Amino acid sequence: MVMAGAAGTFAASAATDGDAMHTYIENLMGRMTLEEKLGQLNLPASDDIVTGQAKSSNIGAMVAAGKVGGVFNIKGVAKIRDLQRVAVEESRLGIPLLFGMDVIHGYETVFPIPLALSCSWDTVAIERSARIAAIEASASGICWTFSPMVDICRDARWGRASEGSGEDPWLGSAIARAMVRGYQGESMSRNDEIMACVKHFALYGAPEGGRDYNTVDMSRQRMYNEYFPPYKAGADAGAGSFMTSFNTVDGVPATANRWLLTDVLRDQWGWDGFIVTDYTAILEMIDHGLGDLQQVSARALKAGTDMDMVADGFNGTLAASLREGLVDMGEIDAAVRRVLEAKYRLGLFSDPYKYIDEEREKRDVYTDAHRKEARRIAAETFVLLRNEGNLLPLRKEGRIAVIGPLGDTRANMPGTWSVAAAFDRYKSLYEGIRDAVGDKGEVVYAKGSNLTADPELEANATLFGREMRDARSEEELLAEALEVAAGADVIIAALGESSEFSGESSSRTDITLPDTQRRLLEALLATGKPVVMLNFAGRPTVLSWESEHVDAILNVWFGGSEAADAIADVVFGEVAPSGKLTMSMPRNVGQLPIYYNHFNTGRPKSDDTKFEKFRSGYIDSPNSPVYPFGYGLSYTDFSYGALTLSADEIGAGERLKASVTVTNTGSRDADEVVQLYIRDLVGSSARPVKELKGFSRVNLKAGESRRIDFEITPEMLKFYNFDLEFVAEPGEFEVMVGPDSERVQSQRFRLK
Ligand code: BGC
Repeated sequence: MVMAGAAGTFAASAATDGDAMHTYIENLMGRMTLEEKLGQLNLPASDDIVTGQAKSSNIGAMVAAGKVGGVFNIKGVAKIRDLQRVAVEESRLGIPLLFGMDVIHGYETVFPIPLALSCSWDTVAIERSARIAAIEASASGICWTFSPMVDICRDARWGRASEGSGEDPWLGSAIARAMVRGYQGESMSRNDEIMACVKHFALYGAPEGGRDYNTVDMSRQRMYNEYFPPYKAGADAGAGSFMTSFNTVDGVPATANRWLLTDVLRDQWGWDGFIVTDYTAILEMIDHGLGDLQQVSARALKAGTDMDMVADGFNGTLAASLREGLVDMGEIDAAVRRVLEAKYRLGLFSDPYKYIDEEREKRDVYTDAHRKEARRIAAETFVLLRNEGNLLPLRKEGRIAVIGPLGDTRANMPGTWSVAAAFDRYKSLYEGIRDAVGDKGEVVYAKGSNLTADPELEANATLFGREMRDARSEEELLAEALEVAAGADVIIAALGESSEFSGESSSRTDITLPDTQRRLLEALLATGKPVVMLNFAGRPTVLSWESEHVDAILNVWFGGSEAADAIADVVFGEVAPSGKLTMSMPRNVGQLPIYYNHFNTGRPKSDDTKFEKFRSGYIDSPNSPVYPFGYGLSYTDFSYGALTLSADEIGAGERLKASVTVTNTGSRDADEVVQLYIRDLVGSSARPVKELKGFSRVNLKAGESRRIDFEITPEMLKFYNFDLEFVAEPGEFEVMVGPDSERVQSQRFRLK
């Protein structure tokens, strides 16, 4: 096909035939001025273009002048078509733009926040959520999403724990692959397949003190073994782009870190996509103390960064740096080529309007079918932490009181980073519970308390149209709640975080239930009525007190646009909960960072319930979390038979099978996530006490038994040693299988 703009004088095929692409792009580059080349490296944010005004907007004028490679966070086909038209018809070479957006967990059909999705351990569902996100975003004109975020996080103070898949590299890698596949589909050639962006490369999830954008410093062994795997999985899955992180890696900001971007990502991993910076990351290197904008921009380019998000460093200074010899033309050309290749792979040179289709936008966004899937998937992400006396599920009868600041707020249901959300189309929890109960009972509501007693903190935690503060005093709110509670048979306490209490720039030093909510909960418990606590959270929160006093706790995270119905499905038992934690839930903030796959130390405690002098522990707290990685209850019980191994020794090229029979001993059908852990008992370096190496999500009917087999290969036993060689070391290994990372049974085998 030959396209409309001047670039189209060369025939372009959507197929990524390497030679054809190479010829096409070399020809095009041969006609580009330096200014046009630098334009391709420039990614400004949209300046809120109004339809029909693209040309007169600031960005429109830049696009016409060939000074823009892509734009992000514009919503809607009409606006996107306008701007693409300027690029294709009014710029000299007619090179189409990339349109990016933070489609992190769904578009208008919003899925649970990524941390919640990871708790489903359902990679098929997660891939499906990304597929639906791609269908909807592409129907709205978007061809590039800034997702998946695959940063490993072991510190719940960090607000962006909500955007990742938790603390484990094995599960994180499986999810990274699933999401890239979901977004990009087979080849990005269809008009509902969009380009993924693996972020934030690298180590962004390990900032000191859990404070966002803070310094990261860790050993290379830890990087390679524990933090790099999900990024590598995304690269291996063919993600079209990567985003740099804000933090330093080995003292050098990621965006200027040549070892990270070129030696590791491109040379060691053989990845050939393009690298975009995070928002203003080049500019921020001035504050990191690396020099002025010209110096830091040159360093970013030389390190391997291709596209500059918002900082205007590449566009603004690289021409001068070229003249002064700070960068060379080969470096600029390499970046330009990679950006153009991405556009070619997306098929934009064949059809720049490939994603522009008003009919699709009307038809494919927030459809009943997508919403149904979002509801089903959301129900898989809730984690049942406690259920004394089988308080849950509730029956749809009598009078049910929904009480709490998260009880009737639509805007706080979808969770952080839902940029395309349409809040008023979603139900609040109260609305969802009411719809579920229908005329079988009565549902009443009271707010009960504000989010926190401190209005300033509440304002910080309820940004972007999510304000919810009530002007009444704490006493008035409580009095109303107690009156509502008095007439109820059961209380559903909707407590926890608002959606912006976690997420970007929402780190917390205290992750307990805020003051006024805790007082409300105490008062509700004092009524003596049964209380089910629904914990809304974008991170693991500290629930030590609640776990001793509340009979039923369901951690519901932020479940997306269909969260209210999905919560009702689980609360009333249409669906049995099956989520399992992917981050440990600490006893207190002082334990952080906390993670199950830690080293043993030379002085491990023999009994964590007691203080042991001169052993590695705390004088005032056990080491273990309240709820460990992998933990989550169901409405049924599962029993695990004996773990057996098919051999007690394996050699290179061999494999063995670890098997266990799991039985649903309860009276209702449910899903269980069976987990496999391995410990390398003797290594040339210290090795973790256990590492997840497999899992299987199975549906078991009441009374049904199933044998689960896990295959163990020498490849799975490899790790990066002191010299960063990826090796499996002969010796003894322990295999553990169980329903979570603590309740495991084990067997041993040898690697010859
Ligand atoms: C975030 C990225 C995001 C970007 C663009 C940044 O502040 O760190 O995750 O993709 O903004 O919106």
